[in-house]
Amino acid sequence: MMYSIKPATCVLATVFLVASCAMAQSNQAHVLIYSATRGFRHDSIPTATQALKNAGSSINVKFDSTEDHSQFTDANLAQYDALLFLMNTGEVLDDSGKAALQTYLNRGGNFIAVHSASDSLNTTAFYGREVGAYFDNHADLQPATINVIDANHPSTSKLPARWQTRDEWYNFKSDPRSVGAVVVLSVDESTYTDTTTKRFDQGSPHPTAWYQEHGAGVEVGGTAGRSFYTSLGHTNETWEDEIFMSHVLGGVSWVLASNTTKATNASAQVGNAASSSGASGASGASPSSNTAASTSGASNAASSFAPFFGIMSSTPISSFGAVILATTAGAIGGLFLLSSW
Ligand SMILES: *[C@@H]1O[C@H](CO)[C@@H](O)[C@H](O)[C@H]1NC(C)=O
Ligand SMILES: *[C@@H]1O[C@H](CO)[C@@H](O)[C@H](O)[C@H]1NC(C)=O
Ligand SMILES: *[C@@H]1O[C@H](CO)[C@@H](O)[C@H](O)[C@H]1NC(C)=O
Ligand SMILES: *[C@@H]1O[C@H](CO)[C@@H](O)[C@H](O)[C@H]1NC(C)=O
Repeated sequence: MMYSIKPATCVLATVFLVASCAMAQSNQAHVLIYSATRGFRHDSIPTATQALKNAGSSINVKFDSTEDHSQFTDANLAQYDALLFLMNTGEVLDDSGKAALQTYLNRGGNFIAVHSASDSLNTTAFYGREVGAYFDNHADLQPATINVIDANHPSTSKLPARWQTRDEWYNFKSDPRSVGAVVVLSVDESTYTDTTTKRFDQGSPHPTAWYQEHGAGVEVGGTAGRSFYTSLGHTNETWEDEIFMSHVLGGVSWVLASNTTKATNASAQVGNAASSSGASGASGASPSSNTAASTSGASNAASSFAPFFGIMSSTPISSFGAVILATTAGAIGGLFLLSSW
């Protein structure tokens, strides 16, 4: 009979459901937002932090936030798949915090920096390279038009080719391309008024947002994660703008696809360690060889689905794949047990 299920099957189904949930969880990336300031303080920091936390589930990310520099220890940072420096200013880390940040980057940690984070830690050279360039000055808050230079990047794929928005228009002390960054957005200098003196060569076209495949803050011999920087984000309204949010979230998703952290790579040195607890939870309920098979099957499925859904959805897709595969494994395992029982 179709709906008569033996008690043992229910227990088994529950066990596999728990295992599949644990596996889906294992792909959730953990990102730490750090928004400490020692100089100018943007009053949009709470809005920005909340906007990121609210959007986290849409890209399968759990955002934590802190302004406490003492959280910069090797052990604490090692839990995270990326650090997001949000509108910091000035000397926001002490020497031990800077050392922990360097160690984190050397271990494959990913990095995101937003707006005035480029005006922070101005004598910590590795930090400057990891951001890509230091802030010099900015044109006043006003509307301007941004050209999308690279429309294929997840941080720009939902943007119009020419995007008008209102923000401060940053000038930098160096060209981020000089450390290997790829510029994805460039503000059109003919669309706004800049009365500042340009004292440095920031390259052309004007850099406004960029990414680094291998963050340049890593030390020789280290494993470089990815880095993403956007100079936008000054006002509350910006963080309420869907187009801007697609830009930032696309950047976050892109850095998390580095395969240098545990959200996507179980042998990585840093990142969400839930993958190992998920695996051991599952192995308690099924032979460990099954667990291993379904785990690698899930990541293969994720990579073959990814091209169809785009990079932005790769994380949710991989959890989806994990659930499907774990459920399938569960059903097959259940049938096998039933027939031998
Ligand atoms: C931005 O939002 C914060 C609350 O999140 C508020 O305190 C602040 O006044 C707002 N800023 C402006 C300019 O409206
Ligand atoms: C770094 O920033 C501080 C203010 O936080 C400033 O006093 C100092 O001159 C700056 N140093 C450099 C090298 O830009
Ligand atoms: C990460 O791993 C996936 C699956 O193996 C692969 O398709 C992708 O190209 C890798 N990305 C990087 C940056 O190595
Ligand atoms: C996973 O991490 C290990 C250790 O850092 C590295 O050797 C390996 O290449 C990574 N896998 C992928 C797919 O990038």
